[in-house]
Amino acid sequence: MAEMIITTPGRTRLRRLRRTKALRNLVAETSVSAEHLIMPHFVVPAKRANEPISSMPGVSQMGLENVVKQIGKDLELGIRAVLLFGHPEHGGKTIDGREAAAANGAVQKTCERLKRDFGNDLVVITDVCLCAYTDHGHCGILTTDGRVLNDDSLVPLVNMAVSHARAGADVVAPSDMMDGRIAAIRDALDDAHCEDTLLLSYAVKFASAYYGPFREAADSTPSMGDRQSYQMDYRNGREAVREALLDVDEGADWLMVKPALPYLDVIRAVREASRLPLSAYNVSGEYSAVKAAAANGWLDEARVVRENLLGIRRAGADQIITYHARDALKGKWL
Ligand code: PBG
Ligand code: ZN
Repeated sequence: MAEMIITTPGRTRLRRLRRTKALRNLVAETSVSAEHLIMPHFVVPAKRANEPISSMPGVSQMGLENVVKQIGKDLELGIRAVLLFGHPEHGGKTIDGREAAAANGAVQKTCERLKRDFGNDLVVITDVCLCAYTDHGHCGILTTDGRVLNDDSLVPLVNMAVSHARAGADVVAPSDMMDGRIAAIRDALDDAHCEDTLLLSYAVKFASAYYGPFREAADSTPSMGDRQSYQMDYRNGREAVREALLDVDEGADWLMVKPALPYLDVIRAVREASRLPLSAYNVSGEYSAVKAAAANGWLDEARVVRENLLGIRRAGADQIITYHARDALKGKWL
């Protein structure tokens, strides 16, 4: 048996900095507050719709009237940025997702109203992707033998992005993961005299099981195959930096890593590789897992949400897109 050695600490005692709450707050390295948060919304064509999403407690698909009302209330809590996802009219899903670019679509109409009601007090970001608008549920154009065509998908994506910009979106955020879409969208925005519209790239988007609840919300589950031929393989971190830097070269103003919690190393790597603003998307499955555990009394929701959001900020994210935003601010959890 080894002899037990008892040592006393040296001059350095890290606990001194933790002794009181005031001291801890004074030396805290990271913070999260309302200005860092972006709230996602699912907008449907029926103006008065308010359909709870069963797998995402507290989140609903809303029509224009309700979503505008909700965003107005959220503004009072300090949420100054929203990310809008759309949905076509009933029967509006087609092979090429053309409804995505309709000037009278749910997202386009909502952008117009939000800009009219809230002007520059609110940052309106729109998701640009075809999967909620295609009958097969893929993010691009699908061939009969099940391939998602890259270059052919750029045209409908570009049209969608320009339609959002024309409707008043401050920021368009392509989430499709086609190669070359950032350059194509930037050129088209400039040609359409939308040179002030920002381009936030979902540059690093992994093929993740954490999108499960979202697909119920957006009704966008692929009818055949999966998204692994365009979304990233989560075994890869170096490739994530390549994706990010390529989008910087193509003209992105702002980058995103998605999901957030299993990818804190990737957030850190992208943060160090680029000087652009960087958002992290705390996705539906990350939200639903916390909600389910909290509903069972297995986790303290307030404390877990604070810890998750601070962890994402500490990893290097400037903003966090999160369904927890309203609860966190209302409950003063941060
Ligand atoms: C679609 C899209 C997805 C999310 C945002 N845009 C899902 C997917 O790729 O299947 C995920 C958001 C979430 O899970 O909260 N391009
Ligand atoms: Zn998609």
